[in-house]
Amino acid sequence: MIGAGNVGANCAVWAAKKELGDIVLVDVAEGIPQGKGLDLLQTGPVEGFDVSVTGANDYAPTANSDILIITAGFPRKPGMSRDDLLVANYEVVRAATEKAVAVSPNATIIVVTNPLDAMAQVAFMVSKFPRNRVIGMAGVLDSARFRTFIAQELSVSVESVTAVVLGGHGDTMVPVVRLSSVAGIPLTELIPEERLNAIVDRTRNGGAEIVKHLKTGSAYYAPSASAVEMAESILRDRKKVLPCAAYLEGEYGIKGLYVGVPCRVGAGGVEKIYEIKLSAEESTALKKSAAAVQELVDVIKKKMAE
Ligand SMILES: NC(=O)c1ccc[n+]([C@@H]2O[C@H](COP(=O)([O-])OP(=O)(O)OC[C@H]3O[C@@H](n4cnc5c(N)ncnc54)[C@H](O)[C@@H]3O)[C@@H](O)[C@H]2O)c1
Repeated sequence: MIGAGNVGANCAVWAAKKELGDIVLVDVAEGIPQGKGLDLLQTGPVEGFDVSVTGANDYAPTANSDILIITAGFPRKPGMSRDDLLVANYEVVRAATEKAVAVSPNATIIVVTNPLDAMAQVAFMVSKFPRNRVIGMAGVLDSARFRTFIAQELSVSVESVTAVVLGGHGDTMVPVVRLSSVAGIPLTELIPEERLNAIVDRTRNGGAEIVKHLKTGSAYYAPSASAVEMAESILRDRKKVLPCAAYLEGEYGIKGLYVGVPCRVGAGGVEKIYEIKLSAEESTALKKSAAAVQELVDVIKKKMAE
């Protein structure tokens, strides 16, 4: 776990609980990863997990990691958009990726730091890993938020709700209502259009709603659980179909860009990208979302060339 802040530390908690493997927390803040690592290690006897958890300020102890979850960077403050974090977090993700991949050349990288899609692209460019081994976490969280609100609305179990969310992680994300259902029953048959639109809006602003409550920092329980669901699917080769930010090479008519799409996630990382037939309206929304990601990536590419 690179970054031992709110998201990184909670990734460690979920991963330890699932006994996904030995965990190293890395952070620039001296003492923080060591202290949190020791604290979590001592949770093992109570919670019944048997993994090693350590903390460090350098990358040597992370050598030969199977998974690198990058959460290092700055979170949003009220009134800030994810994009406002671009330049500061670019420097952090670039440095972290360089150091981490130097000692773990065969790892699969899961990027969490915002602005998500652009940061996934930074990790991809810096690591020079194949595209299947650099994945961004956003869709699992966005669809979890969407599923939560739908389940609340209908008083059904969240487990019965499936939702498809495409596009970048931001205000332009595209929850595809047409393909979302409650145990196969289309949402459009269960919730009036007006209410559905309100739920879609709340999903789009799901992160900001939490930032507004917290005032300092942003969400971390659901984000960390989402990143660990992806890590678990890779480490245990579960082959779950999850919405992930993946590097597109022509899929959906988008080339050379990280955008959220449904992926099969297994031992090979992103093993398959599903290209669903979209309506004209959905396709336009996805292109708009991709254009917003492209703007950020252009800024970064300029910086990388400096
Ligand atoms: N993709 C998503 O859906 C999603 C969801 C939630 C949060 N996030 C993002 O995740 C990131 C982390 O959020 P958080 O709440 O954990 O923030 P946080 O401030 O609690 O933790 C960030 C940690 O990164 C560390 N750090 C800074 N520079 C570093 C470097 N160069 N190397 C190693 N560590 C470094 C800091 O010391 C800090 O401990 C933010 O960018 C946030 O916006 C993304």
